[in-house]
Amino acid sequence: MQEDILKVLYSEDEVKAIVRRLAKQVEQDYRGKNPLMICILKGAVVFMTDFVRDIDDYVELDFMDVSSYYGGTKSTGEVRIIKDVDTSVRDRDVVLVEDIIDTGATLKSLMGLFSHRGAKSVKVVALFNKPSRRQEFVAADYVGETVPDEFIVGYGLDYAGKYRNLPYIGILKPEVYAN
Ligand code: IMP
Ligand code: MG
Repeated sequence: MQEDILKVLYSEDEVKAIVRRLAKQVEQDYRGKNPLMICILKGAVVFMTDFVRDIDDYVELDFMDVSSYYGGTKSTGEVRIIKDVDTSVRDRDVVLVEDIIDTGATLKSLMGLFSHRGAKSVKVVALFNKPSRRQEFVAADYVGETVPDEFIVGYGLDYAGKYRNLPYIGILKPEVYAN
């Protein structure tokens, strides 16, 4: 697996430091609020498990799986729910935990959904932000690092379902896409 990686963008230690920084910000801002952390599957699952263990306070966890609808080349801004949360979000402080914000379609749609369902607040923590391809305005409240317009893998992020278990963030060799 490692031989498919062209370049390491963030080492395992660097990723851990970014995650810890985000966790400490959220820990401080949500003190006493018992936030509901909603992991957007599958990409955010590795991030989520480290992130919540860096928060020294009460939190609850839930999971949601969605896929984007695309009409032609443009995202329609709507998402199809594959797996919904089990928890009622009414009057809860919701924190959406996402791996990377790319076009913004996923988060824009989910923020609207949870507000509509009566959440007290909805905020977003994203490990990475790729602003170059943004189509929808989304205000990410907590962002780890801004990345260039390249396809990155590892630490939950996949290419064709693979590389999620890579412990660091890397850029794939172009020949991997060609196969
Ligand atoms: P969007 O913001 O709705 O376009 O979608 C973001 C989703 O696209 C993320 O949750 C990732 O699953 C996926 N994604 C975007 N950029 C990358 C990347 O560089 N590597 C892996 N997955 C990506
Ligand atoms: Mg994904």
